[in-house]
Amino acid sequence: MNKIIYLDAAASSLKPDSVIDAESDFLRNKYANSGRGVCSRTAWVDEMVSNARAAVGAFINAKPQQIVFTSGATDGLNRVRNILKDVPHPVVAVSDLDHHSARLPWMDAHLAGVADLTVMSLDSQYNIDVSRIPRADIMVITAMSNVIGVTQDVAEIVRAARKKNPNVITIVDAAQYAAHASVDVCAWDCDFMCFSGHKIGADTGIGVMYIKNPEKYLPDKFGGGMVSRVMDDEIIFSAPPEKFEAGTLPLTQIVGMPFAIDNIKSHPADSNLVKYMYDRLAKMPRVKILTRPDAALISFVVDGMHVLDFGVLAGAHGVCLRVGNMCATWIHRALGVEGSIRISPGFWNTIDDMQRTADIIENMVK
Ligand SMILES: Cc1ncc(COP(=O)(O)O)c(C=O)c1O
Repeated sequence: MNKIIYLDAAASSLKPDSVIDAESDFLRNKYANSGRGVCSRTAWVDEMVSNARAAVGAFINAKPQQIVFTSGATDGLNRVRNILKDVPHPVVAVSDLDHHSARLPWMDAHLAGVADLTVMSLDSQYNIDVSRIPRADIMVITAMSNVIGVTQDVAEIVRAARKKNPNVITIVDAAQYAAHASVDVCAWDCDFMCFSGHKIGADTGIGVMYIKNPEKYLPDKFGGGMVSRVMDDEIIFSAPPEKFEAGTLPLTQIVGMPFAIDNIKSHPADSNLVKYMYDRLAKMPRVKILTRPDAALISFVVDGMHVLDFGVLAGAHGVCLRVGNMCATWIHRALGVEGSIRISPGFWNTIDDMQRTADIIENMVK
């Protein structure tokens, strides 16, 4: 049987051996729970969590106390809404670049009558138009769309938002961005930022929620490990980040994070792969490309062929790509299509994968 050509990195990355080996070594030989370990095993786990947090901090240019481990970007983005639940009836700026995970928490707040939504304008290149930034109390910035695949100038958007309202709270969805470009939360100067481990080559079930001023907010979850003292009439919370980390952490997944970060920094996906596919697809009849040649992924539609049929046929030829609306309803609407076909290579892909895929697609669309 031919090997599967996995071109679905934007949905989830394959895992480098270093991540798999580290997690399996932990599960086999080092496993214990974290939190003030009093034997050598638990002490090792505490140190591992602290080193992993420092590695994530270095990856996004943040301090360890600003890094909260979550179960993923969706979890983080929902938690930010809960952390901000006391902001009185905010105007929340969103954009058509948003993934459902970034916008639905706020759409839900709007439908519940506790927030208003305003949709930011995009320019002709599908970038957030900074010259037309609205005044907002909370702003959701999708640093890289999972359909369009180009990165936004987050620092400039945050600056423009602050000119309209110096107290605006900015939330960056870096789920796609973190897999392709370096995140610098200090340069962005955002208030919150979330991403998922599994898209950068770490395991599922681990994510990061960066909070610029973690001491300013109350915890949104309660349980073990987040209090320093409990009295009958008072809870004294631990210092951040622990006060936001109630319950047992996803330890196995945390073990893998620093290895995934090392891997993605030393083996980024080769940008020539998308460029090659772009040039091949551009020559094919019926194919309409929706993305720019310099994007980290390539999205397209085929005239007269439903995207689901395309996906099933490609799958039957051993090509694993993604079709549908990618949980990004609004950008598809803006592009005037119901769904799209997405090819997103990762660190494991080669030019040979792209050649074989392009040959298969050529045969499918002719
Ligand atoms: C831009 C963007 N934001 C958020 C998410 C949600 O990520 P997760 O499903 O890992 O929580 C995704 C997933 O595809 C995404 O592409």
